Amino acid sequence: MRHFLDIDRACAGELKAILAQAAAMKTARRGRPKGTPDDERPLNGRVVALLFEKPSTRTRVSFDMAVRQLGGETLTLSGGETQLGRGESIPDTARVLSRYVDGIVIRTDREDNLLNLADHATVPVINGLTDRTHPCQVMGDVMTYEEHRGPIQGRRVAWFGDGNNVCASFLHAAGQFGFDITLSCPESRDPDLEYIAYAQSRGTTVDIVRDPLKAARGADLVVTDAWLSMHDSDDIRDERRGILGPFQVNASVMAAAADGAVFMHCLPAYRGEEVTADVLDGPASIILDEAENRLHVQKAILRHCFDV
Ligand code: CP
Ligand code: NVA
Repeated sequence: MRHFLDIDRACAGELKAILAQAAAMKTARRGRPKGTPDDERPLNGRVVALLFEKPSTRTRVSFDMAVRQLGGETLTLSGGETQLGRGESIPDTARVLSRYVDGIVIRTDREDNLLNLADHATVPVINGLTDRTHPCQVMGDVMTYEEHRGPIQGRRVAWFGDGNNVCASFLHAAGQFGFDITLSCPESRDPDLEYIAYAQSRGTTVDIVRDPLKAARGADLVVTDAWLSMHDSDDIRDERRGILGPFQVNASVMAAAADGAVFMHCLPAYRGEEVTADVLDGPASIILDEAENRLHVQKAILRHCFDV
């Protein structure tokens, strides 16, 4: 049984195969109504539970549509409406759900919950975001970069602002796909050293550059994310605005990047905070292809997990 828990846990060959299959499936169904299944229905007869303990637009809808297009069915559960919300243990939940459904996608606040669920489930478990990582997002991001600009290997990605869960998955991806990363975060919001060390251990160059205009130099892909993540308390919103303000992606940052650089953001975005509206909605922005590709890449991730 194969879970998809994090980008560093698969081998690079498997990840590349997932991207190739995602691109092929995307092309094969171009122009079809979104609700029609693919010609192949590899998840026919299978049900995937989408267990969301936190809000989601893209991940929930794209996984739901991904399973349908693969010929399967979904069951959406929010943490609060299951017994998890009343304190039932994760291992019991994992063992019980495994008797009813064929796979589980989980979005949860604590990475421990994901790992605990995966340890006790007897069906594939997929990480739909934790406080620590967001692997499906970054698989879609790599697919999107390559769709627009060709192989990401040897390119430079510049990350601005909060060194959060998406940033951590970018560091995993840098190690697996062989691209370099410049991190431009305030010192107190650098990503955890373990993610930087992982990327470096795989031969990636990780530069920490506190001056955003210098950090943008030579970047082929400029990325940022919201200053406050779902697991962060609203009480620190003003503090975050204060420390992250200088790391906003704006026209000057994009002008300093390499010729032909593209801009990505996992969304939801907050115009005027981590990114200005002219960049988010401007010609270098590929955010909607990025959002769409969640669907295609997750179909390939599901096929990888189910080995179908
Ligand atoms: N990017 C992303 O995961 O979006 P949602 O929170 O809407 O799922
Ligand atoms: N860093 C964000 C990503 C949302 C998709 C969060 O965890 O809220």
